[in-house]
Amino acid sequence: MSMTRKGYFIMKKIFALILVLALSLTCVAAFAEDKPTLTMATNAAFPPYEYHEMIDGEDKIVGIDAEIFYAICDYLGYEGVIDDIDFNAIIPALQGGKADLGMAGMTVTEDRLVNVDFSNTYATGVQVVIVKEGSAIASVDDLFAEGANHAIGVQTATTGDIYSTDDIEGAGLGTVERFNTGADAVQALLTGKIDCVIIDNEPAKAFVAANEGLTILDTEYVKEEYAIAVAKGNDELLAKLNEALTALTEDGTIPAIIEKYIPSGAAEDKAE
Ligand code: ARG
Repeated sequence: MSMTRKGYFIMKKIFALILVLALSLTCVAAFAEDKPTLTMATNAAFPPYEYHEMIDGEDKIVGIDAEIFYAICDYLGYEGVIDDIDFNAIIPALQGGKADLGMAGMTVTEDRLVNVDFSNTYATGVQVVIVKEGSAIASVDDLFAEGANHAIGVQTATTGDIYSTDDIEGAGLGTVERFNTGADAVQALLTGKIDCVIIDNEPAKAFVAANEGLTILDTEYVKEEYAIAVAKGNDELLAKLNEALTALTEDGTIPAIIEKYIPSGAAEDKAE
């Protein structure tokens, strides 16, 4: 035997130490990965709140809601996962436990409050009307004029859909055409299949900027407030979300995210 008894013991100790070290490192790693996940359901076709962008060859969901969500997850110690689904599938996903929360520039309405609870509001929106330049529709009033008969495009199940279905179609003043996304509605407007699109003001600006020949009417249709939706009765999560929203507003995180996507000047869309 070339190794002394003492040497053998030292070797054994070193091995034991390495083993302990390796094990504890694995534990630390496992711990870091062990953050609980929080899943956000959204419909990522709604710039600047949520949309897809290629970043370093990877398809990412970015925007105001996505960034506020990740900031909330950091603050509360969660791993954030974003699930891009149809807008009208968001509330069912919360009810069925497939997602923890919904953030989608989602307006607080009485009807939705029957099925979900909402956090404090973090932004305001306005329903506006997009038309082709030179359209005969010159103001929101034209949609309500006696004898009016316009084809109005909306994203299915959004407040634009709900309001115009009640106020315009319901009054016999036109028809509502429902599309899967706001972008699809805008395409139909461009090809002349419909006369206007009713949608939230910031996405409207993004769609008008991305397509030639469109304009937004000056008159506003309806003002509304955006909030985070959770399953009815999930008070524990709701309290955490409200705490995070308050802290991240006070420390400037949320105002900075909104400013990044909606630079001042377009101030009407900011949370008060
Ligand atoms: N604010 C409107 C609503 O709550 C439209 C929201 C659409 N959001 C979206 N991510 N597509 O009905």
